[in-house]
This record gives sequence, C-alpha cells and structure tokens, in this order.
Amino acid sequence: MQKFIDLISQEMEEAFEAAGYDPALGKVTVSNRPDLCEYQCNGAMAGAKRYHKAPFMIAGDVAAKLAGRQGVFQSVEVVKPGFLNLTISESFLRNYLAEMAEDERFGMPLPEKPSRIVMDYGGPNVAKPLHVGHLRSAVIGEAIKRIVRYHGEEVIGDIHLGDWGLQMGLVITELKKRCPDLPYFDPDFAGDYPEEAPFTVGELEEIYPYASKKSKEDPDYYAEAMDATHRLQTGDRGFRALWEKIIQVSVADMKKNYERLKVSFDLWNGESTVNDIIPGMVEEMKAGGFARESSGALVVDVTEASDKKEMPPCIILKSDGAALYTTTDLATLKDREARFHPDRIIYITDKRQELHFTQVFRAARKCGIVPDTTDLVHIGFGTMNGRDGKPFKTRDGGVMRLQKLIEDINEEMMGKIASNPEIPAEEAAETASRVALAALKYGDLSNQAAKDYIFDMERFTSFEGDTGPYILYTIVRIKSILNRYAAEGGKEASACRFREPESRQEKDLMFGLASFQAEMDAAFEELAPDRVCKYIYQLSNDFNSFYHHTRILAEEDRDRKEGWIALLALTCSVLETCIDVLGFESPERM
Ligand code: ARG
Repeated sequence: MQKFIDLISQEMEEAFEAAGYDPALGKVTVSNRPDLCEYQCNGAMAGAKRYHKAPFMIAGDVAAKLAGRQGVFQSVEVVKPGFLNLTISESFLRNYLAEMAEDERFGMPLPEKPSRIVMDYGGPNVAKPLHVGHLRSAVIGEAIKRIVRYHGEEVIGDIHLGDWGLQMGLVITELKKRCPDLPYFDPDFAGDYPEEAPFTVGELEEIYPYASKKSKEDPDYYAEAMDATHRLQTGDRGFRALWEKIIQVSVADMKKNYERLKVSFDLWNGESTVNDIIPGMVEEMKAGGFARESSGALVVDVTEASDKKEMPPCIILKSDGAALYTTTDLATLKDREARFHPDRIIYITDKRQELHFTQVFRAARKCGIVPDTTDLVHIGFGTMNGRDGKPFKTRDGGVMRLQKLIEDINEEMMGKIASNPEIPAEEAAETASRVALAALKYGDLSNQAAKDYIFDMERFTSFEGDTGPYILYTIVRIKSILNRYAAEGGKEASACRFREPESRQEKDLMFGLASFQAEMDAAFEELAPDRVCKYIYQLSNDFNSFYHHTRILAEEDRDRKEGWIALLALTCSVLETCIDVLGFESPERM
C-alpha cells in the first residue's frame, strides 16, 4: 500500500499538472492550523516567481481542476495569499483504513532488496556489574534493531562484550592472591581444568571493584595485573581456562538481566573474538604504508583537510606491543566485513565515545578494512541523570547497578498494581513487571537519544501524561472494550466493517492510524525510537478523546457500533505493534 500522505500528494500533483504547473509543487503536508483544515498545500506560493503569477491565482487554477473530482478531497479552499486548505473525503479515509486492517503489516511494503545491517549495542564488560550506562545502549539498541527489522531489513545484533582488557587481568590477579592453589596458576598443570567455576557471580562482582581500587593505590599490583592481561592475551593456558570460567559465569548472569529487559542478541561475540586476526591486520597496515611508528607506538593518521578540531592519530599498538580498544574495534570491522558483507554497521554507545568512533571509522576506510559501500554509523546517547541533574546514583551515592534499578521500579509498580482490586493476586507480579519495563523503556526512548535525560521514577511510572504506563493503560482500555463486546456476543472484530467518521474525534483518530506507515518510515530513516514514542502518544491521545466523546458499547445502531469496533481493533493492533517495536508489551489488565 502507498502512504496515505503520498496518495493525497499525488492527487494534488496531478491537479497542478493539469492546470499547467510543475507537479512537484503539489506536495501536501499535515495542516499546521488544524482549526482551519486537515491538510494543506503551499505549492502556489513556491510557484509564484517562476510563473510570474500571484499565488492566489495559481491556487485558484489548481482548485478549479479539483472541483469536479471525487475521491480524495472533500473540500479544497483557496486562502490568501495562496494556500490550498484541504479537507479529506470521509469515504477515502474509511477505505484506506479498511485496506490497512486487512494486512498484518497494515499495508507497509517490504523493501525489494533488504539491506544487511550489523548492530553493535549493549557492550557490557565481563566481570564488571552492569550499570545504568549500559542500560541506555541496550534499550536504545534493541528498539532501533526492531525498527530496522520491522522495516524489512536483515539485522544481526552483536553484544560486543568487553572481555579482553585490563579488567580481566585484574580479576585474574586478585583470584590468584585469594586462591593461589587453584590449578589455573600452576604452570606445570597438564590435566583437565575443573568443570565448575571457582567463584560465583556475586564474588566476581565484588572482586573487580576491589582489584580496580587496589591497582590504583599499589603500583606493584597494577604491574601484576598488566602482566596477567598480557599473559592472557598471548595465550597462557591456565589464564585462558580461568578467563573462560569468568566469561561463563558473567555471561550467564548478563543473559538473565537482558532477558528481564526483553533485550536479545544474535551474536555474543566480544573483543577477544578477533584476537587472532590482529597480527595479520597490523601487518597489512604496515605493508600498505598506512601505519607509522611514533615514539615506539604504531599509529594511523586520520586527519582530514576539513577538520576544525584537532584529530589525534589512531593508536594501533602501544609501545609494549599491546592492542587497544581501537585495535579490537578495527579488527572487529574486518571480521564483520568478511563474515557478513554488511551494507551498514550501527554502533550505539555513550556519546563520549564519539571521537573514538570517528577515528576508528576513518582508519578503517583509509586502510581499506571497510569499503566505501559499507555505511558506518555511530549513535551517541546522552547521560541518564538523577533528579538533581547529575549522573544517576544510588541513594548513598554509589554507582547504580542495573539490577537494582529494575528492582526499584518493579517495586514501585507493584505498589500501584496491588492496590487495584480487579487484578488477581497471581497476575499482579507479571503485570507490575510489564508496566515497570514500559515505564523504564519509554522514559528513556521518548527522549532524543543524544540528549541527557532525568530518570524520574514518579513521572515515568505515572499512568497519565507522556509515559509508558499511559500507553499501556490505553491499550488495556481498548482490550477491555473489545472483550466486553465479545462477551455480549458481538460479531468478530475482523468481520466488522469500517464506517465513515461522524465526529471530529473519530476522524482525527482515523488520520492517526492512516499515518502509521509514514511514521514508521521516518523512525527508520532517522533511526529514532523517539519518533515511534511521539506517534503512539498522539495516537493514544486521539483514541482517548474519541473514547470520552463516544458511548461505544451502549450504541444501538449495529452498523455504527461495528464500525467503532473495527476502529478500536485496528487502533489496538497498531499500538501493540509499536510497543513491540519499542521492546515492551502490554498486560491484560492494569
Ligand atoms: N564495552 C564498551 C564500554 O563499556 C562498549 C563497547 C561498544 N562497542 C564497540 N564496538 N566499541 O564502554
């Protein structure tokens, strides 16, 4: 199906052409004066100069061509200086929705040739607890992945674990101090290492901050950790085996956390995945003359003539030969290119990593790691702040763990849900966790990703206003009407026929539904979940205005009632589709 707005524009373009003007002038937009009209076209103003004619006359010519035509417009009004104010035909709108409702994608076409997109998001670090900074990457990344997938592209989501850096050396060093007798530390041990990990995830989470603090105070300890990191990366058998245990325990815990967040990945690769391809890549960089030596280190210059700010060279190997974050990212690009030939790679990280990605992308192009045809995109997000406007902390000022944040918001929701006597006790926990997840995700996603935002528990969990719970409440309200209608013995909603709108509220709701495809397309083009949030907030408002204006179930005229049921069913499916794309789901009752 074509977009609603495109069908309207086409009609206008034909009229411009028939009147002897450039059809390109016939572009129609949603009215910015809804009190005057529904849609508008300003093409006559744009054409005035070219045709040496007053816009009012051009608009008049066009309106005259439309005068006899049935179909798209109910009325076409020419307003000084030359606006075309448009009202849409009710039967045209009705037919469009009826067609949308027939199709499970609401008429949204699939691309002829889907593009292949790798998404790099989440990016947690093994052995470190997940904190709220990783929340944004996971939540935004998951939503963008789903937007892109809904659009019909082929997406591969990769978590890109931080599993290869100094934090691994720190944990290994501390384990060695605590349990020196473990076989992993015995250089002569030749047998099989134990199946069972010698620590729990709780211990692991305690060890890392302890070791990290200690390394900052004690230079010897730091040197030991550096050495352990080096030995791990160069293949020490015992260290590798222990490292695998750390990953295993840490990843199992991450999976639980991500599952609660309804975030999933197709690949659980990490920085370590590309360890073996680094040496070859470095050789190629040297042989190609792209890398040069600079005080012992190996660097690639990435400045460009148009740079306004200083662009430091990209360090590939430190003077001790160690690889860096940049190196693993370049090698990962090489690996992704070889494995997937993606059309595009999208990274979702804190915006403070912008310089890093600029360097990596430039170095990758320069060294021929990525061809020009592969689009590289970095989406940098802002900080999640507390109500004081400073980065979000626990009450006692510590780093907020993701798990704790989820527990807090669940508890807040449980308080609200449990007080509703209509909700059976056994349903309450599941309902509370769904609404809590909507509160958390919508609170984040409804902001433009690049902006900082304030995590405000009270506002996010409110059932009113621009919040996740409000959207869910609207869906639940529709489901409840549809259920009551079904219980009355009403006709199957899918068999109910759409009708022409009878009220302003009804027509506005219908317009909202008709713009689904345009909104989803825009969200895809801009890779912007906040567009989807804005759309469903408006749609929910439109629905609620209609609902307050209309006594649906009490209606005695059968056709009219069935028309409304068809409208409700479509509204419900569109909203459910959109929240699924955002990565949360609705309960039955709330
Ligand atoms: N582990 C990194 C961090 O915690 C994020 C990784 C992002 N992805 C990437 N390919 N660099 O900051």
